[in-house]
Amino acid sequence: MEKDVLPRHRPQWKTHVGFLLAAIGSAIGLGNIWRFPYLCYKNGGGAFLIPYVLALLIVGIPFMILEISLGHKMRGSAPASFAKVDTRWEWLGWWQIIFVMFGVVLYYSVVIAWCFNYLFFSFGLEWGADPNKFFFNEFLMITTSPFEIGNVRSPVLFFLGVVWFLNWLIVFRGVEKGLERANKLFMPLLFVLMLVLVGCSMKLPGAFQGLSVYLMPDFEKLKDVRVWIDAVVQIFFTLSIGFGIMIAYASYLPKKSQIVKDAVTICVVNSCFSLIAGLGVFSVVGYMAYKLSLPIDQVVDKSIGLAFVVFPKAIGMLPAFPKLFGVLFFSCLVIAGLSSSISILEAFTSGIIDKFHYPRKAVVSVLAIAGFMGSIMFTTQGGLFWIDIVDHFLTQYGLVLGGILECILIAWIYRAYKLREYMNKFCLWRLPSLWDYTVKLIIPVALAVILINSLIKELASPYEGYPWLAIVLIGRDWVIFTLFFAVIVAARQWGRQPDEPIEGLKIDD
Ligand code: TRP
Repeated sequence: MEKDVLPRHRPQWKTHVGFLLAAIGSAIGLGNIWRFPYLCYKNGGGAFLIPYVLALLIVGIPFMILEISLGHKMRGSAPASFAKVDTRWEWLGWWQIIFVMFGVVLYYSVVIAWCFNYLFFSFGLEWGADPNKFFFNEFLMITTSPFEIGNVRSPVLFFLGVVWFLNWLIVFRGVEKGLERANKLFMPLLFVLMLVLVGCSMKLPGAFQGLSVYLMPDFEKLKDVRVWIDAVVQIFFTLSIGFGIMIAYASYLPKKSQIVKDAVTICVVNSCFSLIAGLGVFSVVGYMAYKLSLPIDQVVDKSIGLAFVVFPKAIGMLPAFPKLFGVLFFSCLVIAGLSSSISILEAFTSGIIDKFHYPRKAVVSVLAIAGFMGSIMFTTQGGLFWIDIVDHFLTQYGLVLGGILECILIAWIYRAYKLREYMNKFCLWRLPSLWDYTVKLIIPVALAVILINSLIKELASPYEGYPWLAIVLIGRDWVIFTLFFAVIVAARQWGRQPDEPIEGLKIDD
């Protein structure tokens, strides 16, 4: 790898594998282990793979190439890269990282904290015979509505502190010593643990029934637009695109990088991981249905319930080493979650350092404390309701809207062909001009259809019957607040630094 291409103060990945693992670490997260298998099951089993793979090919990979090439060319975090395209659009970069850093990751880190709790519960199988009651009534002590927030749950708060401490520790140590090293440990460990888990679960009696429900195609379901929307939203969420993360990670690459090949590798590894995780999850579900002599649909639950209710129950019934199995499963969730949460902390840190040139250690420390404090709200007894509402809005609307605007900015205002020609100068895998049309037309139109469809549905009946007030608080006020914040930060002066003068913001085509 070439070493001499970046301005001296910009960190750089030490090895190419380090970058790949970090990007894969960001992509593989809680969503791959519990969200994907459930979506597959709900949306027609094996038939869901058709919209999923199409979304991967048409939206996921081209968008990933766009983000990596942009960060690489502009050598900056999302706000800096967008500002280099057009200073009037810098706010969009801030908005993306603000809503992930002060939105998605706040509840995501609480879910990692639950996984930590369950990791320790596994040693004594503490959820007992009724994991449903244990999770909702004893562990979360859930209230009856989002407006009854109750008290902070101290076991969750404790591990939330641990999660933010680890986030802080890794990002504090910088790109090479922190992120790269952590992911070089995390990712191989995660792959091995996952393979062991999947291998063991597929041997259980009943596993085959579980797998056939997971993968048996039901093509009828493909007639429902919702299935296609779920596929695209899942691709966005799982690949960490539209989060400003891949832009920041790519800005630490050396000049001669194989952008197209790397983007494809990240996307393919991520989706394979999801598929494999699903094999494990559904083998276990099949085993449980077999043990209880129940049909599978009475055993499966949606996302959160799958990990914290169905799985613990199945673990308790395992014929051998249930505790070990529990520890392995929840360790996988913790590792997958942490490698994603550190990525947004880095993306935000990088944005602040690019603009204001504050020292990394101070920025990371302030952000980690703010993140921890912001997450506390989700550790309350009403926290689960808020997690559900916030997750719905940020992923269905925030990510999708950010994606549309990013396409308009890069593909139309900057112009897609410039990035393609830039990549084709040094990438061995050459990008065809079809890519331009994909990012200019297909992706924004697909995302716009999703946005409109979700809005129509929302207005007809509020998400999961939650009170309108909760929905307005998140859906409208929070969006306005973050936008306002993004515009203010964008309007601030850029800090000057001797080796990166402000003229550096003008791009050379
Ligand atoms: N890709 C992750 C998943 O599938 C989600 C994710 C990526 C994420 N980066 C993040 C969540 C940053 C919160 C913060 O689960």
